[in-house]
Amino acid sequence: MKTRITELLGVEYPIIQGGMAWVAEHHLAAAVSEAGGLGLIGGANAPGEVVREEIRKAKELTKKPLGVNVMLLSPHADDVAKVIVEEGIRVVTTGAGNPEKYFEMWKAAGIKVIPVVASVALAKRMERYGADAIVAEGNESGGHIGEQTTMTLVPQVADAVSIPVIAAGGIGDGRGIAAAFMLGAEGVQVGTRFVVSKESIVHDNYKQRIIKAKDIDSSVTGRSHGHPVRSLRNQMTREYAKLEQEGKSFEELEYLTLGTLRKAVQEGDVINGTVMAGQIAGLIDKEQTCKEMIEEMMEQASKLLGR
Ligand SMILES: Cc1cc2nc3c(=O)[nH]c(=O)nc-3n(C[C@H](O)[C@H](O)[C@H](O)COP(=O)(O)O)c2cc1C
Repeated sequence: MKTRITELLGVEYPIIQGGMAWVAEHHLAAAVSEAGGLGLIGGANAPGEVVREEIRKAKELTKKPLGVNVMLLSPHADDVAKVIVEEGIRVVTTGAGNPEKYFEMWKAAGIKVIPVVASVALAKRMERYGADAIVAEGNESGGHIGEQTTMTLVPQVADAVSIPVIAAGGIGDGRGIAAAFMLGAEGVQVGTRFVVSKESIVHDNYKQRIIKAKDIDSSVTGRSHGHPVRSLRNQMTREYAKLEQEGKSFEELEYLTLGTLRKAVQEGDVINGTVMAGQIAGLIDKEQTCKEMIEEMMEQASKLLGR
């Protein structure tokens, strides 16, 4: 299926794997790229040299296009931004903020810049700065979220910009892809489903929580401080919600969640860890390879879209 996104990224299928903190390391990114999508290394809060290592390891596993997600709130964002240029990465997505200060350096290096946005205003601003495409992420997504849903955000962003739009949030099968295309998207970014892929290094307890999750099993914490995060309900989210209701400060709440995503991903602590996942977790019922996931999604989407 050819779209402006497959052309821009040089990939077979218009599917990007979300640059998920702790999850999107070289095995997952390389597997998605090998399967014809675009795999992303998640920069998260990692130092530049760690991201460099991850890029090099991924490149040993695939010769196909690869990207990196830069988390703009990271204290190492400046270093990661430079490492991407030095390592010859061709596609960057950015999350949690405004990447304007890196545009000049990245564009000069011929890198395609794709900011993740949760509003029309930021999408328009990013287009003015020279973004090559936009990820419009609805709040069905796992992880840090905005306030708009995918259903409402994608068509409004598609109308507001002329660069291609990639829909994210709540897409877990071919129906989701077809729906996103009907809303004006030319590609999709998938996070939660790839967490349970065979190549994902996430602890089995985490994968099983997603596989067993029902439609209503995710919740959002952190809204009161303007930093909402979607994860699966557990002891941690209940404790967080209680403290939030008691009016505890952002710093106290941050302290509670320090290192808890890593604890869930690596140690499998799905009780006191943060099990980030989106609302689509309820639809995901098995572990498959990235290739199986992508081919199944694309076959269903192609049939529905008649292309
Ligand atoms: C465990 C997890 C961690 C995530 N971490 C990041 C991140 O560090 N940077 C980012 O831009 N998006 C992050 N996201 C969002 C994904 O990149 C993607 O946009 C989202 O998962 C898509 O929605 P879905 O979960 O419904 O598929 C994360 C999502 C999950 C599930």
